[in-house]
Amino acid sequence: MAKFYITCAIDYANSSPHAGTAYEKIGADAIARWKRLQGHDVHFLIGMDEHSINVVKKAEAQGMDPEKYCDVMEPKFTDLWKALHISNDDFIRTTQKRHIASATEFFKRVFAKGDIYKAKYTGLYCIGCEAYLKPGDLVDGKCKNHGTEPQKLEEENWFFRLSKYSQAMVEHIEKHPEFVQPDVRRNEVLNVAKDGLEDISISRSTFKFGIPLTCDPAHVMYVWFDALVNYISGVGFAADEAMFAKWWPADLHVIGKDITRFHCLLWPAMLMSAGVALPKQIWGHGWVHYKGQKMSKSTGHLLDPWDVITPHGADALRYFMLREVAWDRDGDFTWEAFTARYNADLANGLGNLLNRTVSMIHRYCQGVLPGVGEAGTADDELKANLVAAPLDVAALMEKQDLSGALERIWDSVRRADKYVEENAPWSLSKQGKTARLATVLTFLATSLARLSVLLHPFIPATAEKIRAQLGLSGPLVIPAAWEPLPPGHKIGEPAALFPRIEAEKTDPAAEGQPAKGKPKGGGQAKGPEKTK
Ligand code: MSP
Repeated sequence: MAKFYITCAIDYANSSPHAGTAYEKIGADAIARWKRLQGHDVHFLIGMDEHSINVVKKAEAQGMDPEKYCDVMEPKFTDLWKALHISNDDFIRTTQKRHIASATEFFKRVFAKGDIYKAKYTGLYCIGCEAYLKPGDLVDGKCKNHGTEPQKLEEENWFFRLSKYSQAMVEHIEKHPEFVQPDVRRNEVLNVAKDGLEDISISRSTFKFGIPLTCDPAHVMYVWFDALVNYISGVGFAADEAMFAKWWPADLHVIGKDITRFHCLLWPAMLMSAGVALPKQIWGHGWVHYKGQKMSKSTGHLLDPWDVITPHGADALRYFMLREVAWDRDGDFTWEAFTARYNADLANGLGNLLNRTVSMIHRYCQGVLPGVGEAGTADDELKANLVAAPLDVAALMEKQDLSGALERIWDSVRRADKYVEENAPWSLSKQGKTARLATVLTFLATSLARLSVLLHPFIPATAEKIRAQLGLSGPLVIPAAWEPLPPGHKIGEPAALFPRIEAEKTDPAAEGQPAKGKPKGGGQAKGPEKTK
């Protein structure tokens, strides 16, 4: 299988990650894991964007130098990504030597091409966007992304001739419809390119924290021209030819919709200028809001991912984000919606199905699968649903329909649940129909075994727990034909995957302290007993 190089936007180091920045890593992680499952050789890069005035200011306020400040910030990101089971292969920081060397070499190439010049510029600068705004970027005189008033700046800086690449960008985007996705972003970006691009300031001389320009060491490279290069410096640009040849061009840049212009217009133009191949696709996902409002670092209206992870586990957050916030549009996190999803899909749905299956195999067969016996009600329907599932999920993942893929997996969960009701294993046991009971339990365990593989990219820790309870080990293989687990297969011990949540205790704001939504009295919503 082919290589697959996937990246996320590198996060600004000057504030802690929040549920929005986490959403991007979770989505990209599900894609990276799915590709690995399909057998691709995957490289997944994330990181931290450090050279900015905001970092300098924060560091000064804390009496630290900017490098030290970034060192202190790093674990706030890496600890969270670890807790969320983000499977990145590398973590790049723009203050690392490898990045500075690559960015310097990249700059030299663009300069040699004649695409960098010095000029005076006056404009309205948004510090949140780290960019000059155009009239269309303003609402009531404020930045439409950050809700803050831009500053009027006049400066003599070095500029990149982005305008020179307007036509080339229009042509590239028109010729490669897959280059910018989803379509709504493609149309936006294409319109901007068609309007004509403006040259962009790429240096600062007012502070020293940055990569000095080779043509004028009194200036440092400014934000985007530095940060975007991480995607190539992370795979050995101008340092490790073999590595670079292996991974570049990137197969997928995952970014938020607010930074599509930089990625879909500036970055490709920079690459064209330097004579480097363009990435294959840029996906601009939507925004996660919190309680119906935009999250904002400036107002502090933010959801801290730990408020979900600490009481409910990483997979609860992963599942909600991936299921509820479609990858191509905006979505909202509310504690009510989270609790409803969690209880319905994870506690009552998947968790309950696993718990009743494993418990019944213990109760009726001493934890050892008897193998397929007599055929009967809904066997074929269950098999057909579970055999189609991997193909359906693959087709949805090909379109990056992450929530659609989860919805499809839950269709199988519901089908298997219905199969339990249709066959009522407890009645089969009472009536001594052991040959039929053997089939039903084997089919249920087999269904869950298949689902555990498909769930792995989305909720990896849960998938591992399911596999342990089913007594499965060995590499993950996307299931194809229906192959029932063999007679004699030993099942593990049952344990609640997702204890139900009491709705009124989930919102930290409601309690005035970090969320401690208590799992209710241990155990699933309904065990096999309750359905008897
Ligand atoms: N440092 C730049 C990116 C440079 S990439 C060469 C940056 N950093 S950021 O920390 O502000 O944002 C990091 C990523 O998180 C961006 O892709 C951004 O769109 C995304 N998100 C920030 N807030 C978000 C939400 N509320 N929801 C979803 N994604 C969000 O931009």
